[in-house]
Amino acid sequence: MGSGLEAAWRANRRCTSRSLAVDGKPLPPLPGLHTTEGRHRGIQRQIHEFPVCAARQLLADAPRPRPRHLSKFLPSSQPLDGVGSAPGPMSVELIDLHPAPADLYRLVQAGLAQQPKQLPAWLLYDAEGSRLFAEICQQPEYTLTRTEITLLEQQATQIAKAVGQGVVVEFGIGNARKVDPLLKALRPPAFLALDISRTALEDSLGALAQRHRDTPMLGICCDHSTLDALPDHPRLQGQRRIGFFPGSSLGNFRPEDAMTVLKRFRQLLAGGPLLLGLDQPRNPSLLEAAYNDAAGVSAAFARNLLHRLNRDLNGNARPEQFHYRARWQPVQHRIEMALVSRCDQTVQLAEQSWSFAKGEALITEHSVKYSPEAAAELASRAGWRIRQRWHDPDDTLSLHWLEPAD
Ligand code: AVJ
Repeated sequence: MGSGLEAAWRANRRCTSRSLAVDGKPLPPLPGLHTTEGRHRGIQRQIHEFPVCAARQLLADAPRPRPRHLSKFLPSSQPLDGVGSAPGPMSVELIDLHPAPADLYRLVQAGLAQQPKQLPAWLLYDAEGSRLFAEICQQPEYTLTRTEITLLEQQATQIAKAVGQGVVVEFGIGNARKVDPLLKALRPPAFLALDISRTALEDSLGALAQRHRDTPMLGICCDHSTLDALPDHPRLQGQRRIGFFPGSSLGNFRPEDAMTVLKRFRQLLAGGPLLLGLDQPRNPSLLEAAYNDAAGVSAAFARNLLHRLNRDLNGNARPEQFHYRARWQPVQHRIEMALVSRCDQTVQLAEQSWSFAKGEALITEHSVKYSPEAAAELASRAGWRIRQRWHDPDDTLSLHWLEPAD
């Protein structure tokens, strides 16, 4: 994840937002744009609402999105004060495909029935988890986010030259500091973000629109793992698509799922390239420190999962009865993060009990590291080939430029 937010990314979004996505809640004002009346001017905001229906059906039935009850057009006469000099048109548009909310209880049941117990990593990102993840990104031991931002800032012009023009499509709302240099270098015909969280899309696209006034911003609130194609939107018509998936977000997936994700991206990008950020295996003690910082933020991030389950499933887990462990697993090339039970104990969640033996682990997350060779192999199994790779001076992480293999 791009970081902070990358992950803040999808998950937070997943949880909080999944429910938001289905409740038809009216849109709050764009962040940063609501301080004065005048600030609203200059923004053209169109909200396209679809009835609750399968995205698939929607895509089949609707050649283009039709504005519904929430259409709102604001006068575009006045530039925002103090933001840049170009009085660009600023446009933010949201398409809500109403992704189904996750069934938390079912996920927990399935995860705790496994041996070893393991829960999906995205459950870590409720509001507090997202805040803690952003804090992890600032810890001295966790260099991934800072290094990737620097790489993108320094190489954006080269990257833009190499990949060529097209609509930039980011999978999940990432850390804006990663896509900013790309948008600046490419000045694409549009930026499209796909995210499960409608509020995350609104917030991030509103902020991006202020900095990239000439770039139309388009958000699709969806679960991209269930999409077969992007909606047939005028902004996308006839445009090449350039995918962007930074932050080693792919590392949270099991390798076979990572391959499925990459295949899906290939389909959604319809022949266009993908910029994929992945970090690499390196000195295990440095990696273990990155996932178990001295300030204890990583541990708090993992324990927050139990707080979250207590809250959402009316549970009685005692987070302090678990210690946090991050260890490098050399065979799988991954960091395993887990909460390890300090004693024999029983945890109740939603009226069901689960027992933990002393020393038993609940895996909260895996973070797979891909060497350039491993990345190339994964890419090729998903129908991609790596055209080029940009990396930091210490070669700890890469931005891979993938093109469809055929
Ligand atoms: C968001 C999956 C990229 O694996 O480095 C960081 C998540 N968890 N510290 C990573 C994470 C604990 C992060 N990703």
